[in-house]
Amino acid sequence: MTLDLKSLVRTIPDYPKKGILFRDITTLIEHPEGFKESVERIASAHRGLNITHVAGIEARGFIFGAGVAIALGVGFVPIRKKGKLPGETIGQNYALEYGVDTIEIHADVLNADDNVLLVDDLIATGGTAIAAVSLLRRTGATISRAAFVIDLPDLGGASKLRDEGVEVDELIS
Ligand code: PRP
Ligand code: HPA
Repeated sequence: MTLDLKSLVRTIPDYPKKGILFRDITTLIEHPEGFKESVERIASAHRGLNITHVAGIEARGFIFGAGVAIALGVGFVPIRKKGKLPGETIGQNYALEYGVDTIEIHADVLNADDNVLLVDDLIATGGTAIAAVSLLRRTGATISRAAFVIDLPDLGGASKLRDEGVEVDELIS
């Protein structure tokens, strides 16, 4: 496995607004070996660690997280935006640049015996991932590891997540 994954991520200037350089993973996932290697590298780094579930954050975290769950042979927990899950839920608010959003999981999905790997495509400010870790921890489960395809280190999210006691891996920085 020797692909240069970074070269498969496209950068789009001025999206979603002027001055932002948007790192676009659609070019990575449409490349068969690039997509496969991204998933396999995250899975390989987490074998033998007694991971019981992969939790992925809507929407782009579902793409990679589902693959990692299959590769590890464990179940997948969707962390969804508010109002999308049909059963009883627990939710966590988090700050956006303007306003707040809420993520949710099913209330009965995890318990204190579980050891969850959080997966998302990208960590920027860390607001989403930190909210996800807080939410998952409210079930009693252990969330000691998180993996991202891309870290934007200038925005400090990975460092904040490490301060929460989470070991953070990224494929591209
Ligand atoms: C993006 C990305 C992460 C989050 C990272 O998701 O997929 O989940 O933002 O930003 P942060 O570290 O500053 O919180 P977005 O909310 O755009 O949702 P999407 O996957 O549905 O496009
Ligand atoms: N790309 C994709 N998602 C993002 C980015 C980015 O550059 N920044 C925050 N979320």
